[in-house]
Amino acid sequence: MTKFKTVIEPFKIKMVEPIKMTTYADRKKFLDTAHHNIFSIKAEDILIDLLTDSGTGAMSAAQWAAMMEGDESYAGCRSFFKMADAVRDLTGLKHIFPTHQGRAAERILFSIIGGEGKVIPNNTHFDTTRANIEYNKTEAVDYVIAEGKDPSLDYPFKGNMDLKKLEELFEKYKGTKRIPVCMLTITNNSGGGQPVSMANIRATKKLCDKYNIPLFLDACRFAENAYFIKLREPGYENMIIKDIVKEMFSYCDGATMSSKKDALVNMGGFLAFNDDKLFTEVQNIEILTEGFPTYGGLSGRDLAALAQGLREVVEEDYLEYRIKSTQYFGHKLIKLGIPVLKPIGGHAVYIDAKAMLPHIPPEQFPGHALCCALYLEGGIRSCEIGSLMFGKEDAQTGAFIPAQMELLRMAIPRRVYTQSHIDYVIEVLDEVNKNKNKIKGYEIVESPPFLRHFSAKMRPKNI
Ligand code: F0G
Repeated sequence: MTKFKTVIEPFKIKMVEPIKMTTYADRKKFLDTAHHNIFSIKAEDILIDLLTDSGTGAMSAAQWAAMMEGDESYAGCRSFFKMADAVRDLTGLKHIFPTHQGRAAERILFSIIGGEGKVIPNNTHFDTTRANIEYNKTEAVDYVIAEGKDPSLDYPFKGNMDLKKLEELFEKYKGTKRIPVCMLTITNNSGGGQPVSMANIRATKKLCDKYNIPLFLDACRFAENAYFIKLREPGYENMIIKDIVKEMFSYCDGATMSSKKDALVNMGGFLAFNDDKLFTEVQNIEILTEGFPTYGGLSGRDLAALAQGLREVVEEDYLEYRIKSTQYFGHKLIKLGIPVLKPIGGHAVYIDAKAMLPHIPPEQFPGHALCCALYLEGGIRSCEIGSLMFGKEDAQTGAFIPAQMELLRMAIPRRVYTQSHIDYVIEVLDEVNKNKNKIKGYEIVESPPFLRHFSAKMRPKNI
């Protein structure tokens, strides 16, 4: 770790991608055309894109070089074995199936182990995970600790599982085989990119063992989680990241992974597990829907880049820069008096839109309103994680059921933006904050049956 305050990007830029400048008037037009849904705006009309950290990272020279060595053989390609070795080296898991992205791994897993009457607990299911579970007529339940639901509370491991609630569930369904798996999402994305402590992973596994339930990690941001353990959990401060990662995975029986995050690639994922009985069923669905099991929806070159990415993501210098630059961003917002979720997470800074815009009720989507304001003011794209994403209507009464929190997530693509880009975002947010009372709520004009935030048509409330 450097003794200096300024944490520099631990890389030089070899290739640049121009950003097209836009005016407020341009952006107003683009937002109207997109029916006020930020997903429908063309990427070229965005100045700083903080929509997601998923698949938006920059690859290293070593990854690009590895791509040239990608083996495109249909079956048994060399790149698969390199990828599987890299995954096994970190996770110790036996069976490894590449998939085109994380949700494909989820779909395969839940279509096999899910089904009517079954329940799958997690600290907090990510939206695609929940949707894939529910699509298979399975119940998805979230048992993050109470501290994890209070955006203003500073607590080191807000992603931890509530073990008491988990045990109650295990007790309730004891001996019924209705809980096919327990999951832990590291870091807890929907709860603010918050880490899970090693002690909690270990204790969750112990409880799972007691009730004979396998534990799977939703491992998208495993390296960031490991770095937080190193920073915050006594006993881990002198351990190398790779060993922390290995210990984390030693407590699980399997993992779903979106390689678009902590494998530093633009596309890819995998499903990994130890259970030999699951192997054949997974292989069958993999062949049916993703492709032959040694490529699983990916090119050989993608697998090669993924293998190299997994080596780079556990480098200490990279993780120090990654976590500290996100903290830099968040702490500047705190200084400006903007209510952010605390402590600052690994991959994103989350604004508590409910606290920032108290004049907009949850049913008028304060997070979405802030998202649109940020785009109009500075061309910045962010993502609502609140009632537009998770809000529901009561099946009987039609009454609005809000999400647990109304957040605006600004996710940081890996190795893409420099400190001056982030300083610009901070300046724009300062301006938006000064004029926040003028921001209006929104209503839904048209909405699809699933995952409505991706494509719903919206309009500002005229009150
Ligand atoms: N699990 C978690 C915790 C995630 O954050 C994501 C994706 C997935 C699973 C699904 O992976 O996109 O490769 O299919 N999160 C992205 C995000 C989309 O913006 O946070 P995927």
